[in-house]
Amino acid sequence: MSYKVAVLAGDGIGPEVTAEAVKVLKATGVAIEFEEALVGGIAYDSTGNPLPPTTLDLCKSADAVLFGAIGGPKWDNVQPVTLRPEIGALLPLRSELNLYANVRPAKTLKPLLKASPLKGAEGMIDLVVMRELTGGIYFGQPRERQGDKAIDTCVYSRFEVERIAKQAFAIARQRRHEIVSVDKANVLETSRLWREVVTEMATANPDVKVTHMLVDNCAMQLIRNPKQFDVILTENMFGDILSDEASMVTGSLGLLPSASLSDAKGGKLFGLYEPIHGSAPDIAGQQRANPLAAILSAAMMLQYTFGDLTNSARIEVAVEAALNASLRTADIFEKGTRLVSTKEMGDAVVAQLK
Ligand code: IPM
Ligand code: MG
Repeated sequence: MSYKVAVLAGDGIGPEVTAEAVKVLKATGVAIEFEEALVGGIAYDSTGNPLPPTTLDLCKSADAVLFGAIGGPKWDNVQPVTLRPEIGALLPLRSELNLYANVRPAKTLKPLLKASPLKGAEGMIDLVVMRELTGGIYFGQPRERQGDKAIDTCVYSRFEVERIAKQAFAIARQRRHEIVSVDKANVLETSRLWREVVTEMATANPDVKVTHMLVDNCAMQLIRNPKQFDVILTENMFGDILSDEASMVTGSLGLLPSASLSDAKGGKLFGLYEPIHGSAPDIAGQQRANPLAAILSAAMMLQYTFGDLTNSARIEVAVEAALNASLRTADIFEKGTRLVSTKEMGDAVVAQLK
């Protein structure tokens, strides 16, 4: 039996980094059938729709989705805004595929211990932001303009908090058993519901230590002492902001993968896996992008969807080995290391796998 993975490479550096991730997955020997489809600006250009129905259907029929990056200045002014790649492809993919649990690890890789731009943050940072991805102010209705007034709506229901919290508990159990639930309960009603539900679940799951933190304090604590965090559990918009902050604290944006998970389907956790970096149109097509975030996203796919911890760990070890061999793409290049292209970095990971 082989798995089916939908490959949505997208725009900018998406195709280059995704090609390396596919190459590495093939090199593991895991039986996977890859099927490509258009998404983002390139899909808009050729079909008028950044998320063509055939692409969505392919994703729905697959076991997992490997996603590159989408968007770029070429499509920033597409009208109506609902056809822009971010709004017309990314958000509907998340809601249509019910990808409510966004897992964004921010982990220092040993060969890059000194990459953090923060004084005193050298060393291992190893935290995960669990971001709710299909609710809150990103999707609440009404969203509208009334003359000089604009309205966005933040809505959360109990079941939405429960299901993301459940995944956060599961992930905390594979780690250090600590969750910091982040909200703005001193102001927002949705946050008070969030805190109520997480508190109840904490009582029911005493093996995991749960504390609560206000979002402004969390933003500060991530800079003050990022090592205090294991799992940060939070709603959609807070998670958007805090995950960018957490990624920068490790100093290596080009290395961070992510998973957007749904419920289990046929016994397997369905998910979309993508590097957290964007489409970087300025360096697209030049073989300068760092493929490691995409490659590590493929490792997350093996871990979460296919439960293949052995091959997932093999990829992670191979990535560290390539870095230990002093190979660096332009984004992490420093004196004394060897500058390599996107493809050379992918080849190096494949070589280390063997
Ligand atoms: C992210 C991005 C998206 C988001 C944008 C592009 C809609 O910032 O995945 O973090 O806000 O969710
Ligand atoms: Mg973001």
